[in-house]
Parts: sequence; C-alpha cells; structure tokens
Amino acid sequence: MANTTIGAAVPSSRILVRVGISRMLQHQAAAPTLIMCSSTAKGAEELSRLVNTGCKLVGCGSAVPSLRVSNNDLAKIVDTNDEWISVRTGIHNRRVLSGKENLTDLAVEAARKALEMAEVHPKDVDLILMCSSTGDDRFGSAPLIQKALGCKSNPLAFDITAACSGFLLGLFSASCYVKAGGFKNVLVIGADAVSRCVDWTDRGSCILFGDAAGAVLMQACDIREDGLFGFDLHSDGDGKRHLISTFKENETDDDASSGNHFASSFPPKRSSYSYLQMNGREIFKFSVRVVPQSIEAALGKAGLASSNFDWLLLHQANQRIIDGVATRLEVPSERVISNLANYGNTSAASIPLALDEAVRSGKVQPGHVIAAAGFGAGLTWASAIFRWG
Ligand SMILES: CC(C)(COP(=O)(O)OP(=O)(O)OC[C@H]1O[C@@H](n2cnc3c(N)ncnc32)[C@H](O)[C@@H]1OP(=O)(O)O)[C@@H](O)C(=O)NCCC(=O)NCCS
Repeated sequence: MANTTIGAAVPSSRILVRVGISRMLQHQAAAPTLIMCSSTAKGAEELSRLVNTGCKLVGCGSAVPSLRVSNNDLAKIVDTNDEWISVRTGIHNRRVLSGKENLTDLAVEAARKALEMAEVHPKDVDLILMCSSTGDDRFGSAPLIQKALGCKSNPLAFDITAACSGFLLGLFSASCYVKAGGFKNVLVIGADAVSRCVDWTDRGSCILFGDAAGAVLMQACDIREDGLFGFDLHSDGDGKRHLISTFKENETDDDASSGNHFASSFPPKRSSYSYLQMNGREIFKFSVRVVPQSIEAALGKAGLASSNFDWLLLHQANQRIIDGVATRLEVPSERVISNLANYGNTSAASIPLALDEAVRSGKVQPGHVIAAAGFGAGLTWASAIFRWG
C-alpha cells in the first residue's frame, strides 16, 4: 500500500486538506513514498493506526508568577527608560519568579488548566513533554510534573530543550508520538524562567525577558478530524554564537594543585552556566528573514494558500519582529495575536501563553486555523499550521 490519500474537511473554512501517509511521517516537503506491506494481523493493525490516526488540540492553560516588573522598575537597576523599551520592543511589563515560586509549579498549574478544559483526567495522560531551557532540575522536570499532576499510570515524561522554538518542536514531537506511537493524550508544556540566566546589569538583554508557563493537551483522533496540517522545522549551529548561555568552569576557584597536571585537571572545578549573552541586532535580522519563509513553507506543506488562516501567532520576542513578519506575510494587525506588552519574551512559554489567553478571551474559536512560529537560540526556528479544537 503506498501513499494513500485521504480528504478531510476543515470546519473553519474554505480548505480541503489532503493527508498522505507519507506526509504524516515527514514534515519536510516532497515526502518520499512510504511502502508498507504486512501479512500479519498485528502489522495490518499497525498500518491501520498509521493511516487512520490524526491529532487535535483540545485544551490549553497557562500560569505566570505573581511578581510584575515594569519598565520603570527596570530603570531603577539599569540605565534605561520606559519610552526606550516600549518603542524598541513593545514590552511594558514582565513577570519574574520570586520567593518560593518555581517553574515546575507554574508548569503544573498550566497543565492542570489544559486538562480541565479538555475534560481529561490525569490518569489518562500517557505522555508529558516539558519544553524548557531553564528548568528547576537540569536532569529534567517532566517527571516531577507527572508526579504533581497525580498521573498514576507512570506515563512517559521528559524534557525538550530548544529555547524559544521549544514549544512548537514539542508539538511536532507530540504529533509523531500520537500518529506513529499510539499515544492518546499528550501534554505539551512550554515553560521558561529566563530571569534565572539573564544578566540584570545588561540593559541590552534584561529588558526583554519574563517567566511563564503554557500548556496544551493534544489528543489522538480519527484522521478526518486531524487538526495539525503542516510543520516546517530548522536549526543552524553556525548562528548559535548570537544567543548563548554556556557551561563554564568557575574561573575564580583556586587552583591548589598547580604543577601536577592530573591533580589540576581532576576532580573538575565547580562549573556553572554563564549569563545569557545576545547579539540583539543579529537575532532581530535573523528572525525577520527566516520566519516568513518558514510560515510560507509550513502553509505549503499544509496545502494552504498564503494568508489562508485565521490567526498569526508568533513567538513573543519583540513587537517590531511580530509587525515585520506580519507585514511580509500581508496579515493585517487585527489577525495577529500579541500579549508581549504584559509578559515580555517568555521563551518556550510564549506561544502557549498567548494561545491560552486568546482562547479564553473568545478571540480564537474552535475551528480557527492558526499559523504559529517559534525562533531563537540554537539557532532554531519552527512553524506549525494547526486548528484549534
Ligand atoms: C535588543 C533590541 C531590543 C535592541 O534594539 P536595537 O534597536 O537593535 O538597539 P541597538 O542594540 O542597536 O542599540 C541602540 C542604542 O540603544 C542603546 N540601548 C540598548 N539597550 C538599551 C536600553 N535598554 N535602554 C536604553 N538604551 C539602550 C544602545 O546602547 C545603543 O546606544 P548607542 O547608539 O549609543 O550605541 C533588539 O535588537 C531586539 O529586540 N533584538 C532581538 C532580540 C531577541 O528577540 N532575542 C530573543 C530571541 S528569542
């Protein structure tokens, strides 16, 4: 059986999406033909699942820390002012973890709200993907979220590290687990506390970031209800130097054993991650260049004409980047989702946080088609065309 094609009507509009088996497994264009033959019942069952399984987003949630930090608050610790930050970025406030708050708790709150909206019990979750680069534990926080939610069946839970593209890469990964792996209810969480690695004396970067968590519940469904239409995914290690927070030996540690090479090398010195270092201009140029191309590629893979979607939802990095991309794609501002003014750049959380607000405010309705793009450190960038509900 090769390259079966199934038609599926998208409720919101004008579109007939054609889904081939090969497309279900390949995010890149011009997918090769997939040939699967089986004479066993199990093989036939597997093939039937691959052909017939789609996935859709059925719940969302978000959570932010209680401490609000305004531009004027920042002007008290670095040489900046409200006007500069507002005009250059569109940001007015951000939330920052403080006191006993931690990122895992925010992620759990966001996940719980997504499960409530989806009316799915934690015991029915079979995969948790925590997309984060600043988690509470470097070995991963997803299993802690699993425990806190009370997922008694020990579902698989692990972290994905891809900074500001993390959530969309998580969404794509979740769709692969559902379509090819038989998973039924997947929590995709984007959560970051970039405040932990920002240099609060560097006015060029500290003004941009905030902390938050957002989550969606992706559910397996019949292929005719499939709500994930197309992805476009990239990374570029050459550009990594423009946005880094690297692991380094602590240079201030005393070297008590100088003269003895082995003793001076072992045990290793204490190490820690450096502050976030960013070349803002390069990241700006990179974003405005790659994001429109990527969204157009994802639209092409979804079989949609350019601009044939209801909402543009970009990673909330800078309002000038959002406006620049919208202009290139000829999307009017009333179809652009933006909540950056209140939260700043919340890295992997920004897309699910903005989606959650837009859904709960009634802006995004069931059946609406969303073109989303994440971009940032790595460098990585990713676009997804999906339907809400
Ligand atoms: C960081 C960013 C806001 C800087 O804006 P910009 O217009 O590029 O500003 P520049 O860096 O060119 O700096 C212009 C001037 O403002 C000054 N400046 C920088 N930060 C400032 C601040 N917070 N307050 C006041 N002045 C500031 C600079 O020192 C420079 O002064 P000079 O002309 O005397 O040298 C912008 O480049 C940006 O948003 N880039 C993308 C970053 C990003 O999104 N990163 C995350 C990706 S996930």
